[in-house]
Order: sequence, then structure tokens, then C-alpha cells
Amino acid sequence: MMPTRRPARAAAAALAAGLAAAAALPAAAAGDPAAGETVFKQCQTCHVVQAPDGTFLAGKAGKTGPNLYGVVGRAAASYPDFRYGDGITAAAAAGLVWDEEKIATYVQDPTAFLDSFTGDPKLKSKMSFKLRKPEDAANVAAFLAQWPAEAQTQ
Ligand code: HEC
Repeated sequence: MMPTRRPARAAAAALAAGLAAAAALPAAAAGDPAAGETVFKQCQTCHVVQAPDGTFLAGKAGKTGPNLYGVVGRAAASYPDFRYGDGITAAAAAGLVWDEEKIATYVQDPTAFLDSFTGDPKLKSKMSFKLRKPEDAANVAAFLAQWPAEAQTQ
């Protein structure tokens, strides 16, 4: 009988389980850009991903929504010459800068996202589209993250 060993072993097992859980988290949160390219087909009626040199990286004619090239890392509602709605403009004034996770949440319910970000339940999004599956949302966000905002200044 060595009563001190058992707690030590239990602690080691708990630690290992904790590490495994921690390691699993980023993998679960990170989307798959290749799968996201397919998901983006649902976005391209309204959006393009067009590089500054004019190359279309995704979509071709969508003009209802802003160009999403460099959207990850960009302040919300900051694409030049796009007429954004009051809701996203208010969120931008409150400091909204897009990252992968926020885009994944936003596309599942844009109006709910703006309301919760600003704390104003009356604000509405002009984006009349909701992506139902969280997995699709994470994947499309990872797809857009291939062209981060820093690339725009190159
Ligand atoms: C029916 C048209 C439509 C579809 C489909 C659509 N969007 Fe949008 N999107 C918009 C509009 C319009 C805005 C501007 C929102 C506003 O002004 O409130 C917008 C804004 C955005 C923004 C904020 C951009 C910025 O510059 O701040 C992101 C990110 C975005 N859309 C991602 C997506 C993704 C990803 C998809 C596909 C899963 C998608 N959208 C599908 C119309 C659409």
C-alpha cells in the first residue's frame, strides 16, 4: 500500500486528459479552407474575393455585399465605396475588427451578431443570409483567412 502513489497517478491522468482536451480545442475551432471554398459558392451571389490587381480569387460578379479580399484583420465596414448599413457601422464604431472566429459567428446570424457585439438589440444587418451549420461557417472563415488584411498593403 503506497497511498501517495494513487493520487499522483490520478493527477497525472487528469493532467493528460486536460492536455488532450486543450490540444483538441484549436483543431475543433479551426476551419478547413479547402472545404470553405465550396461553402463560399453560397456567398458569391453577393460577394467576390478580388485582389487589388483585379484578379478574382473567388466569385465574379457579386456586388450586393463588399469585396471580402483581406477581410480577416480588417475593421468592419471599411471596404471603400461600399454603402454599409447602420448596424455594422455602429459595430465598427464600437471597435469591431474581423477575425476568423468573429466571421464564423457573424455568418450564422449577422443581425444577432451585431446586436450582441454592440449590446443594441434594435440594430439590423443588411446581409440577408444565414449559414446554418457552424462547421460550414468555420470553414468559410478559414477560406477567407488565406488573404489576411496585411496582404492588402503589399
Ligand atoms: C444575399 C446576399 C449575401 C450573401 C449570400 C452573403 N452576404 Fe455577406 N454581406 C452582404 C451584405 C449586403 C453585407 C453588408 C452588411 C451591412 O452593411 O450590414 C455583407 C457583409 C459581410 C461581411 C462584413 C464585411 C465587412 O467589410 O465588414 C462579411 C465578413 C460577410 N458578409 C461574409 C459573408 C460570407 C462568408 C457569406 C457566405 C457564407 C456571405 N457573406 C453571404 C450580403 C450577403
